[in-house]
Amino acid sequence: MKLEEIKIIEQQALSELAEAVNAETIEALRIKYLSRKGIIPLLMQELKSVSKEDKPAFGQAVNKLKQSLQLSLDEKNSTFKTDAAPVAAFDMTLPGNWHKTGSHHPITLLIDRVSDIFSGIGFTVAEGPDIETEYYNFDALNTPEDHPARNAQDTFYFGNGNLLRTQTSPVQIRYMEKNQPPIRIISPGRVYRRDTPDATHTANFHQVEGLYVGKNVSMADLKGDLLYFAKQILGEDVQIRFRPHFFPFTEPSFEVDFYCDLGKTKGWLEIAGAGMVDPDVLKAVGYDPSEVSGYAFGMGIERIAMILHEIDDIRLIYDNDIRFLSQI
Ligand code: DAH
Repeated sequence: MKLEEIKIIEQQALSELAEAVNAETIEALRIKYLSRKGIIPLLMQELKSVSKEDKPAFGQAVNKLKQSLQLSLDEKNSTFKTDAAPVAAFDMTLPGNWHKTGSHHPITLLIDRVSDIFSGIGFTVAEGPDIETEYYNFDALNTPEDHPARNAQDTFYFGNGNLLRTQTSPVQIRYMEKNQPPIRIISPGRVYRRDTPDATHTANFHQVEGLYVGKNVSMADLKGDLLYFAKQILGEDVQIRFRPHFFPFTEPSFEVDFYCDLGKTKGWLEIAGAGMVDPDVLKAVGYDPSEVSGYAFGMGIERIAMILHEIDDIRLIYDNDIRFLSQI
């Protein structure tokens, strides 16, 4: 056992200490050198075999090493507890915190898209009030007092002649009263009906009304424009068909079906009501039916959303569960 050996052990310990990167490696070094069965206590035991005259020098050297090593370990350890620790602990591969940004509701997005498509062929957007009068919601639309749609079971009445509009069609009347042909408008908005909620009904939903009045507006325009719209929204392969129907404010009237082949949905689906504006409606707003003619349509926005996004229960659209909404 020589004093040089103690020097070598010291150098070894210091170089290992220099490489220590965290508190755990410091602790491992402490155990290796200073614990009961560590290298330095072993050196102490070797003192017994050292000659009498060398003992004091040797003992001092081991003690000095023990103290200085203890100090160095503590010193280095304290650096990890302050600024060095976070740097060593920072894991670049961890996923970051994700802050969700808000977005528009799927129905708003679809209304914007429908509006964009019709803007592209010359339509402007017109709006009307949700609280309507019986006059605009029914009378002006040729819907007589005894028409079933006026039944209190279908309509929310306020009892003062006002009601929650059951359709966006009254906007046709409001717009025609204030504007002269030619007019081309669409009118998206919320409508209300006293329906019991189920997979295909809610007490309020959205429609988009369309109205085109001008010289020689014909069924061909109606068909062409709706086919254009159908292709924009559902793709080039879509087909449309008109089934004869009855609406009080159009003559002739139709229900319009789109043929869809999208994921779960395949087949003819009813999308809109439409027809040629009844001459009586034109007269009531002061237009001359021998001069101008027009077409009108109204379609259900939720219906289209359900087809596009393969939603099988309309109530999901209004639950506003973020897990559902974020899939759209
Ligand atoms: N307003 C009708 C409804 O809610 C839909 C409709 C049918 C609108 C024919 C129209 C139309 O403009 O011409 O059932």
